[in-house]
Amino acid sequence: MKLKIATLAGDGIGPEVTHEAINVLQAVAEAGGHEFTFAEALLGGVAITAKGTPLPQETIDIALNSDAVLLGAVGDNKFNHLTPDKRPESGLLQIRQILGGFANLRPAVAFPALAENSPLRPEVTAGADILFVRELLGGLYFGQPRFWNQQTGEAVNTMRYTRDEVVRVARIAFDLASRRRKKLTSVDKANVLECSQLWRATIDSLKPEYPDITVEHQLVDSMAMHLMNVPRNFDVVLTENLFGDILSDESGIITGSLGMLPSATIGGRINLYEPVHGSAPDIAGQGKANPLGAILTAAMVLRHSAGLEQEAAAVEAAVQQVLAAGHRTADIARGNTAATVSTQQMGKLVHAALAESIDRSQSLHAV
Ligand code: IPM
Ligand code: MN
Repeated sequence: MKLKIATLAGDGIGPEVTHEAINVLQAVAEAGGHEFTFAEALLGGVAITAKGTPLPQETIDIALNSDAVLLGAVGDNKFNHLTPDKRPESGLLQIRQILGGFANLRPAVAFPALAENSPLRPEVTAGADILFVRELLGGLYFGQPRFWNQQTGEAVNTMRYTRDEVVRVARIAFDLASRRRKKLTSVDKANVLECSQLWRATIDSLKPEYPDITVEHQLVDSMAMHLMNVPRNFDVVLTENLFGDILSDESGIITGSLGMLPSATIGGRINLYEPVHGSAPDIAGQGKANPLGAILTAAMVLRHSAGLEQEAAAVEAAVQQVLAAGHRTADIARGNTAATVSTQQMGKLVHAALAESIDRSQSLHAV
C-alpha cells in the first residue's frame, strides 16, 4: 500500500523522537513492500522563528495533501510572553481544526516491564489497559467568546458543545468499546455544568443503539481519583476536550512515564498522530528523550491510516520486547545509568527487535 505522511516534528524533543518513529515506519514499509513517503513541514516555535507564524500556509498545504500527519511536539518557553493566539500551541490547535479529526484516541497501558516505574503499586496498575477518547475540537479550547482584557482585568473562555458534536465522538467511543471489553465510562461534571448535562443526556440517548456496551458516568473529579485507585476497572473512557487533556496526562502515572503515551486523532479529513508528551525543552537535543511514545504513535499510523493491524501489533510487541530486555531511556531508568540508552539507541533497539520478528514471520510464511 501507499501512504503519504506529512511530518511536523515541531519543537524541543519533537525532531529526535519523530526521527525514530519514521525509521520504524520505513522498516515496516520495506519489509512489506509498502511505499511510505514523508514530507517535512514546520509547525510551532520553529515555524515562528523561520516564518513568523506557528502554522505557515505551506505547512497547511503539505498536511492537506497527505494521507496522515505525524507530529512530534509543539511548545517553546521562548514564546511564553506571547498571547495564546500567537504561541506555538496555537499552530497545533489550528492544524487540529483544519484536519478535522474530533476523536483523539489516547491508550494508557500498564507495560509489565515498567511495573516498578509507576509510583502506584504494581498490583494496582497490573492489567490496566485504558483507551481514552478525548473530544478534540470543542469545549474551552475553541469556544467563543474568548479574551483577556488587561484594562478591565477580566478574562473569558467559553465551554460550548452541541448535541451533534457529542454524538459523533460518542459513536466512535461506543464502536471502540464494542471491539474491546465493552465498557464505556463517560466523564463529565454534570452536577455543575450544563455542557456536561447535555453530554450525559446525549450518551444516554445513544445507549439503546449499543445494547452490548455497559455505560457508566463518572464526575471528572472522582474519576481523577478512581483512575489512580483502580485503573483496571476502565476500558474506553470518553471525555470532553479539557477533561481528556488532564486525565490523559494523569494516566502517564499508570504507564510509568508520559514519554510512553501515543495518540491518534480520527474522524476528520486526515488523521493526525502525536505522542502525548510535550516538547520537553530542558532535555531537547541531548539524546535523552524517550522515543517510545512517538514509535507507538507510528504503530497507530499503521493501524488507523494504513490498515496494517498486524504490523502495528508487531511494532508494539517490539517495544515490549526491548523494555523486557531491560533497555531504558533516562525517564524510565529509575537512576540505573548502566541500563540507560539514548533516544537513537532506543530507536535502533526497537528497529532491531522488529526486524527480527519480521524475519521470523517471513520464514514462517516460506515454510
Ligand atoms: C496535548 C497538549 C496540547 C493540548 C497543548 C500543547 C495545546 O497538552 O496534546 O495534550 O492541550 O491539547
Ligand atoms: Mn496535554
